[in-house]
Amino acid sequence: MLKFGKSTAQLLDMAYQGADVSRRRRANFDAIAPAPGEAILDLGCGTGLLTAELARAVGPQGQVTGLDTSPDMLAAAQGRCNEFDHVDLVEGSAFDMPVPDRQFDKAVSVQVFEYFADPSPALTELHRVLRPGGRLVIGDTHWDTLAWHSDHPARMQRICKTWDAHLADRCVPAALPAALRACGFIPEHVQPVAFCDTTLRPDGLALMMIRLMQDFAIQSGEISEAEATAWADEQNALADAGRFFMSITHFVWVAHKSRSLPLTN
Ligand SMILES: C[S@@+](CC[C@H](N)C(=O)[O-])C[C@H]1O[C@@H](n2cnc3c(N)ncnc32)[C@H](O)[C@@H]1O
Repeated sequence: MLKFGKSTAQLLDMAYQGADVSRRRRANFDAIAPAPGEAILDLGCGTGLLTAELARAVGPQGQVTGLDTSPDMLAAAQGRCNEFDHVDLVEGSAFDMPVPDRQFDKAVSVQVFEYFADPSPALTELHRVLRPGGRLVIGDTHWDTLAWHSDHPARMQRICKTWDAHLADRCVPAALPAALRACGFIPEHVQPVAFCDTTLRPDGLALMMIRLMQDFAIQSGEISEAEATAWADEQNALADAGRFFMSITHFVWVAHKSRSLPLTN
């Protein structure tokens, strides 16, 4: 599994301010539709980019809680959210949130559920901490949508297969509707956010993925340093030749907490 330590926090923080990931964050922001005075949970807040945007939108009469397991990600979030007295940054897990019942009007979680082998414990906790009727937004990638050109498809396949081990569930958006219903939520709609990079932009999603995937492949011990480097070099060469192509789709699910309890057997 990917470790969210200091160097990952720095890499993500830089790329997450780029055009691709800003668009993804904006889609989740629009789906949560923050209103002045609301209390909102940002589950797996990472470096706090969305947390800060939500804090601005709800204003000082509102409240935003960023919850994350990683002290390094929270340290970056703290720096970003220092100016807001109405932001609480809390170290804790989605499976056992240190938060009272029915605390929030809305909750959002972006690129976090793919690290959960089973979404139900986190959804059960989200159901507990949301007020009846509260809105839930979950944005995640469906990794089957990855289309990435290489003149060495077998090597590309090996790198991608190794990268699969960085998460627990490659297909969160497809699994969510049933999981949401089972945990007392009513799924409303889903919005795809497609990325397509045909150049290797310094602020793009593709460049961040190449760096993360190259390091992860080497650390996994499954791919030699020489092979991982050759793969990254090929992508740079394709970009120089105007032949780079990478596309992937993120999906933003919107649901709300049912006003009645979920059915239990
Ligand atoms: C890919 S980052 C996304 C960060 C942020 N949501 C964003 O989009 O910028 C995933 C985050 O989920 C956090 N995370 C992973 N497992 C978690 C858990 N069980 N409970 C809370 N946070 C978790 C990680 O520490 C990391 O900060």
